[in-house]
Amino acid sequence: MSLASALILAAGKGTRMKSTVAKVLHEAAGRPLLAWSLAAAREAGAAEITIVAGHQAEQVRQRFAAETGVSIALQEEQLGTGHAVACALPSLRSQSGSVLILCGDTPLLTGATLQRLAASHAASGAAVTILTARMPDPYGYGRIVRDSRDQVLRIVEQKDASPAEQALDEVNSGIYCMDLAFLRSHIDRLGSNNAQNEYYLTDLVAMAVAEGLPCHGIVADDHREIMGVNDRAQLAEAATLLRERINRRLMLAGVTLIDPLQTYVDAGVTVGNDTVIWPGCVLRGRTIIGQGCLLESNVQVTDCRIGDRVHLKNGSILEDSSLAADVAVGPMAHLRPGTVLAERVKIGNFVETKKAVLGEGSKASHLTYLGDAEIGSEVNIGCGTITCNYDGTRKHRTVIGDRVFVGSDVQLVAPVTVGSGALIAAGTTVTRDVPPDSLAISRTPQTNKEGWCLKKRTDD
Ligand code: UD1
Ligand code: CA
Repeated sequence: MSLASALILAAGKGTRMKSTVAKVLHEAAGRPLLAWSLAAAREAGAAEITIVAGHQAEQVRQRFAAETGVSIALQEEQLGTGHAVACALPSLRSQSGSVLILCGDTPLLTGATLQRLAASHAASGAAVTILTARMPDPYGYGRIVRDSRDQVLRIVEQKDASPAEQALDEVNSGIYCMDLAFLRSHIDRLGSNNAQNEYYLTDLVAMAVAEGLPCHGIVADDHREIMGVNDRAQLAEAATLLRERINRRLMLAGVTLIDPLQTYVDAGVTVGNDTVIWPGCVLRGRTIIGQGCLLESNVQVTDCRIGDRVHLKNGSILEDSSLAADVAVGPMAHLRPGTVLAERVKIGNFVETKKAVLGEGSKASHLTYLGDAEIGSEVNIGCGTITCNYDGTRKHRTVIGDRVFVGSDVQLVAPVTVGSGALIAAGTTVTRDVPPDSLAISRTPQTNKEGWCLKKRTDD
């Protein structure tokens, strides 16, 4: 099968999104709409992919121009789908074979369906193979007109259709596999003599049929797969369906979702089996979660690598961090980028970390800020400890050795180093390095004035 290329049409205005952001850049389940189409085209084997951008083209170019095998063609004026394809063909290097044509706003389309479309096209030798669907409500779509022997004759747009044609429920998805040589030789013959004065790509079908070249329609198994996103309500609907797929895949792979309807996992995330996820969790980006983990409610994880048997408690937020096995975090902890936790580390409630590396078995159980810190193993960080890493201009590092005990309410004014085995007394402000195995204590000596309160009360 010679499927080398694909065109993705994405120049349309997207007026109904009412957005300053290009429609195809709006995200569903963690990917821009256009990225879903791109992934499907790649899964179907397309190596050379041209995206047609027009409206808000610069945004589309910035996001997609660097993708492997992708080039961007510009359609300055949106004169119709036929015109969009005409704008793309000059930048497509492939001259023959078949080309997939898809839209940038149909995120539910799968690579498997495109593969089926391409395989059917290759097997039949048609000029055009159309992915069609039977719609409960076909209003607005182009309709597939077939003859008495069920052969495709043409596609008629809603606005050009007769009442009898409007009654047809087989619709054009706007997704095709075409013979590239046929496409190249016929695209400039399209006219715009129709209700919308647009160059309709769909007119190629009648053109091929008139020349005796066969056109086929294959019906999608599930009409929801071709659903286009035009407004925010459809965006939410598409995202829900995508999440349903992702969550189903996770559950079949052995992940327990307490309430799949309230579990938000991006397309690129992987989760190991026997992990249990409570409602309200949001797993984003390139996150990888190990086996046998427990994620309590409302945990948000972005771009993290998480080992086995990790326990993430309610309301914790983790970004760009790496956690080894048997770590516990939260409730309500905030791990910011650059946090690296070795095995059995415990981060408790209201603890914030940033560029903080903690060794095996170390604990910061309550109310603490650890920033730009390198902390050894089996260290105890007491309640209310603060690394004072910022002097108003620059950030400085705090280094704490193995088995250090930091008492409660300690400030470490960086840059500062605490040697292994040292003890920092509660309430100490550490401003100088502490040698190994030493006690550091800095407190204002306490005075007790006996009877002072009694006297104050009688004076009043
Ligand atoms: C098109 C089809 C219709 C089909 C429907 C499926 C034509 C003439 N009609 O109709 O049969 O049922 O899709 O959704 O093709 N685009 C451009 N440049 C343009 C115009 C459109 O890039 O000048 C892109 C849009 O961004 C979109 C796609 O092409 O991704 C479809 O355009 P749209 O205007 O939605 O086409 P419809 O009129 O809905
Ligand atoms: Ca449309």
